[in-house]
Amino acid sequence: MREIVFLQVGQCGNQLGQRYWEVLNGEHNIDRDGFFLKDASLEQKLRTNVYYQEGPGGRQIPRACLLDLEEGALNNLRASSIGGIFQPNNFFGSGTGAGNNFAKGYLTEGAESAEEAMDIIRKEAEVCECMQGFQLVHSLGGGTGSGFGSLLTEKIRDEYNDKIIMTFSVFPSSSVSDTVVEAYNTTLAMHQITEKADQTISIDNESLYRICEKNLDIKKPSFSKMNEVVSMAMSGLTCSLRFPGQLNADLRKMAVNLVPFPRLHYFMMSYSPHTPPNSVVYRKLTVEDITQQLFDLRNTMSEGDLKNGRLLTTSVIYRGDIATQVVDEQLLKIRTIGRHSVSWIPNNIMSTICNNPPVGLGMSATLICNSTSICSMFDRILRQFDVMFRRKAFFHWYKDEGMDEMDFTEARSNLADIISEYQALDVREDEKEDEEEEEE
Ligand code: GTP
Ligand code: MG
Repeated sequence: MREIVFLQVGQCGNQLGQRYWEVLNGEHNIDRDGFFLKDASLEQKLRTNVYYQEGPGGRQIPRACLLDLEEGALNNLRASSIGGIFQPNNFFGSGTGAGNNFAKGYLTEGAESAEEAMDIIRKEAEVCECMQGFQLVHSLGGGTGSGFGSLLTEKIRDEYNDKIIMTFSVFPSSSVSDTVVEAYNTTLAMHQITEKADQTISIDNESLYRICEKNLDIKKPSFSKMNEVVSMAMSGLTCSLRFPGQLNADLRKMAVNLVPFPRLHYFMMSYSPHTPPNSVVYRKLTVEDITQQLFDLRNTMSEGDLKNGRLLTTSVIYRGDIATQVVDEQLLKIRTIGRHSVSWIPNNIMSTICNNPPVGLGMSATLICNSTSICSMFDRILRQFDVMFRRKAFFHWYKDEGMDEMDFTEARSNLADIISEYQALDVREDEKEDEEEEEE
């Protein structure tokens, strides 16, 4: 058993978390009360313990902790069609929220609530036989997701030093939200996550919005639609953890393979196919189609063109009845995409095939990669941060909660450093050799 403890923090965390559990229930054939449906196959049942704890009568209870600093989103989740599946004691929401202020979530309001939230997390961790780690879903723009999410990550890192922490972190976009201070919250949270988490799936609301609008033809996409899109990719990422397969991945293996330097653990994610509702598929999709689509700017879930950057490490997870040989041919092609991957990491393009396709689809592919292209999104956040911080605009809200200018300048330089560390790996290798020769 390699259990995962799943944490959803703040409004975004809980809304996206809800959608993800709906997908998991569907894939494992579990009804809204937590029981396997009659036609659930052995394959669907075999490894559910990664995400669910078995309760009385064979009931499958999500190993989820549902945390917020206000009740609203949690009440909606409780009242939703799958609200009853969760362990009622795992809901924690008290207070009036962190009002889009990292400092409230991290220092004041959050600190008051942290012990109670940690008790819930500890209880889940204690009943695991051999836990592999934690997954945290949160937004970086909101006060609770960024601040409280960071605080909990820090506490978990202290207590469970040898466990992997993976975050699904949603980056803010002005197409989706007009709260001005989100770049502050994001930068402050990244400072913590860079040090305390092992891997971060960087999800960009800008990209989710664009995928819904352009690929799925949805006007003014709602959070619910955007969450649908990203949870398909999240389930694509975790299917090899949940189904028996040739290569039974776990969170540690993922980290070992994808993170060449500890600070550079921000992954981009991409998924295909995206099929608009009621669309007629005229031609059967091939493995080649879905592989090519993964690298298409229109399908990536963070801003940044994969073809323009350098792929450091890449993992492609295919789902469906697909032959290894066909996949191997595609992987050879990936090596020639865009500006190529680096030569100093051997076998840096990996793949897994999970025979179990997503519900309603013949096949799908999910790409997780560590690419220098992510700098476009980081640059965007840094620019927004600088525009405000130059005049100390809105800084007093943070100061009132006990933060000082140093906290801001340090977080800012952490982000700037990450950008330059990625950029340093982005030079063309033949150029670098030329330079080295010249130096000699
Ligand atoms: P406070 O309410 O400030 O205490 O923190 P919170 O963590 O509850 O805030 P929230 O998660 O609402 O954070 C706001 C940011 O998250 C903005 O950038 C929103 O666009 C984004 N966001 C909020 N809900 C969702 C969601 O369901 N899906 C997605 N993709 N983004 C969301
Ligand atoms: Mg909130």
